[in-house]
Amino acid sequence: MKTLTIIKPDDWHLHLREGLVLKNIIHFTSEFFGRAIVMPNTKNPITTIGGAISYKKSILEALPESSKFEPLMTMYLTDDTDKGELINGFKNNIFFAAKLYPANATTNSSHGVKKIENLYKIFESMQDSGMPLLIHGEVTDPEVDIFDREEVFIDRELSPLAERFPKLKIVLEHITTSYAVDFVQENNIGATITPHHLHINRNAMFFGGLNSDFYCLPVAKREKNRIALRGAATSGKDCFFLGSDSAPHLRKWKAFCGCAGIFNSPVALQSYLTVFEEENALDNFEKFASLNGPNFYNVPANKEKLRLVSRPNKITEFIDVVDEKNTVGKIKPFHAGETLKWQVEGIAI
Ligand code: DOR
Ligand code: ZN
Repeated sequence: MKTLTIIKPDDWHLHLREGLVLKNIIHFTSEFFGRAIVMPNTKNPITTIGGAISYKKSILEALPESSKFEPLMTMYLTDDTDKGELINGFKNNIFFAAKLYPANATTNSSHGVKKIENLYKIFESMQDSGMPLLIHGEVTDPEVDIFDREEVFIDRELSPLAERFPKLKIVLEHITTSYAVDFVQENNIGATITPHHLHINRNAMFFGGLNSDFYCLPVAKREKNRIALRGAATSGKDCFFLGSDSAPHLRKWKAFCGCAGIFNSPVALQSYLTVFEEENALDNFEKFASLNGPNFYNVPANKEKLRLVSRPNKITEFIDVVDEKNTVGKIKPFHAGETLKWQVEGIAI
């Protein structure tokens, strides 16, 4: 039986939702991760300091007792973002970063940014104050094929932006292409990589009929991209770090409207570990999961350690969402029904 002890990881890209879903799923992250960057695309997006404070409060209240988990809050950028509110919120440690969603690029992004150039003044202030900019990197131009949206975004938007603001701390979130892997390395920015983009290619959405379980945004791409992502994640290179993009949707909605998002927080570490083992790169797992992110964001690594063991681990088909009395919904986790080879044993002394 193989074991691995690593510094406790952080999740640098996570959707926690609100209300009952938040209450039912947060423990999957808080148990094994020190911190997580919490995405602001709630039903009413987090666009103000007040919104972030009350969202953070509800997250802290949903945590299991005596949890030390720290949610890192983000501000959702819009065409009307107030620069003062943003920078104030950053300087007062309310916001850890700002999130840029191109309008209508993904779930709850209708209030996102319509014209990125209009935010250049804001980016200037973010660059000056060291506030990180997290980017959902896809164009929404309907003329652009959905499988090309990340590459076109890099050419049309990200490349001029990175050139104009060379000191801005940019993270290209949930990268899905070899094109993005190359761009990130050549342009001194950071990138998160999800477990699902390391496991599936675009075939998964069409296997055995249309399958929305594997539909997320950006969509998984061709196999050659998955291979490039696996190379990047397991390389140990500083610019690539763990961001699960775990995005729970109730089964009834997922089945009904096929909303984008894969819920992986119950299996994220085990899922990544499977890939690192397959790539003979377990030695680099701590860098990807626990060191590269803190390094990029200039925060200390966690103090605690986590012990992982290679032992068969059957993944449940569904996670129940319960209120005080009843089950009110179900969420299907990534790897549902599969047996993974790794388990998280717990915090190591
Ligand atoms: O698949 C996704 N789901 N991609 C995103 O960018 C958003 C997320 C969600 O909030 O469900
Ligand atoms: Zn996301």
